[in-house]
Amino acid sequence: MSVGFTYQNGVLYADDLPLTSIAEQVGTPAYVYSARALEAAYSRFAAAFADRDALICYAVKANSNLATIGCFARLGAGADVVSGGELARALAAGVPATKIVFAGVGKTIAEMEQALTAGILQFNVESEPELLALNQVALRLGKRAEIAVRINPDVDAGTHAKITTGKMGNKFGIDIDRAAEVYALAATLPGIDAAAVSIHIGSQLTDLAPFQAAFERQCGLVRDLQAAGHKIRRIDFGGGLGIPYRGEEPVSVEAYAATAKRISDGLGCSLVFEPGRHLVGNAGLLLARTVFVKQGSSKRFLILDAAMNDLIRPTLYEAYHEIIPVVQPAADATIDPIDIVGPICETGDTFAKDRPMPPVAAGELVAILSSGAYGAVMASAYNSRPQPPEVLVSGQNMAVIKPRRTLADLFADEVADPFTGVA
Ligand code: LLP
Repeated sequence: MSVGFTYQNGVLYADDLPLTSIAEQVGTPAYVYSARALEAAYSRFAAAFADRDALICYAVKANSNLATIGCFARLGAGADVVSGGELARALAAGVPATKIVFAGVGKTIAEMEQALTAGILQFNVESEPELLALNQVALRLGKRAEIAVRINPDVDAGTHAKITTGKMGNKFGIDIDRAAEVYALAATLPGIDAAAVSIHIGSQLTDLAPFQAAFERQCGLVRDLQAAGHKIRRIDFGGGLGIPYRGEEPVSVEAYAATAKRISDGLGCSLVFEPGRHLVGNAGLLLARTVFVKQGSSKRFLILDAAMNDLIRPTLYEAYHEIIPVVQPAADATIDPIDIVGPICETGDTFAKDRPMPPVAAGELVAILSSGAYGAVMASAYNSRPQPPEVLVSGQNMAVIKPRRTLADLFADEVADPFTGVA
C-alpha cells in the first residue's frame, strides 16, 4: 500500500478518513486519492534533486485532475504536457508557463500557437517536419521557440510493449545517430533556440540499467553538441520511474537521481524530469462495491460495480493491481482463488484472474490499489456507464474534485433524429 492508505481499527482508511464513509457520501465506483501520499511522493522526488538545478515537470497525463496538478504546482513542480488540453489544465491549475514542457509526436499548428503565446519553457520536438513547422509559427508570432530534440537512444526499457518508447522503430523521437544533423538544421532556423536534449524511453521501469544506458548516450550527445558549438544548457531525462504494484521493489528514486546526477555532472546543464506514475500511482485507489458473487461450473466470480471503462489497465496491459477488502479480513480468513470482474459485456472486462482472496460478500467494498496513475484519465463511458467521481482526502477532510458524470451528461447533447425537416 502507501503512506496514504492503511487499515485502522479493521477498516481501510484514506489518510484519516474511512473508505466506508467515503462510499456512503459519493457512492461507488469512485477514485480516491490521498493528499498525504501525493505530497510524500513529490517531496521525496524533489529532495533527491535538491542539490542540483532541477525542474520536476509532473507528467500531467498520469492524472490530470486540476486538484492533482495544483497540489504539485504548490510544491514547486512544473508540468509535462502532450496536448493543448493538458496545457490549458496545467495553466488553470497554477503551473507557471515558464515551467511547462510540451512533448508529443503530432503537435498541431494551433497547439504550437497556444504554447508559444502562453510562453512555455520548452517544446520537445520529435521530427524535422515538426521543427520546420514550429520555426514558421514562431516567426509568424514574432517569437523564438526554445526546444529540445527528443532523441530515441535505442535502449530497451524492458517494460510492457505498449508503453516502451525508446527503441529503434518506435514512433517517438529522432534516432540518436541522426541527432547531429537535426541540431545543425535547428541552428539555421531563426525561430528556433535549441536549448536542450530530451529523452523518454518508456514507463513503469523497475531497473536502473536502461535508465543508465539511455542517460549515458544522451549525455554523450550533449557533450558532442556542445563541442560542435551548440549552446545546450538543459537536459530533459523524461519520466518512466516505476512503482510497486505487487510488493516488488523498483529502483529507488535516490538511486535513479544519483545516476542522473553522476552522468550529467560537468556538462553545465540544468536538469528536467517528467515523472508521472511515480508521483500519483500509489496515491490513488478505485473504490468498488461487490454486486454479486457468482458460482460458475468451474470458477467463482466476484462481480464489481467498477469495470474496464473505469480502470482499463488490466484489460489493456494485463496490468496487475492489488485488490483488497475495505473491511480488514480476519488473520485466519480462508484464501481462495476467484476471478474479479466488472459488469461490462466483454470477457476482457476482468480485473484479476484466479486471484487469491479472503471471502468478500455481495454488498461489501473492495479497493483496487495503485490506481492513481492512468486510471481516471483513461476512463470512458463505454456501455453508457457514467465516469466515476474523483475524491481527494487530506487528513480528515474530503473534497469531490470531480463529480460523478450523470445520465444526462451521457446523451443530453445527442439527437435521436438529426435529419428531421431536412429536405
Ligand atoms: N514523458 C513522456 C514524454 C511520456 O510519454 C510519459 C508517459 C511520461 C513522461 C510519464 O511517464 P511515467 O513517469 O508516468 O512512466 N497508460 C500507460 C502509461 C503510458 C505512459 C505514456 N507516456 C499505463 O497505464 O501504464
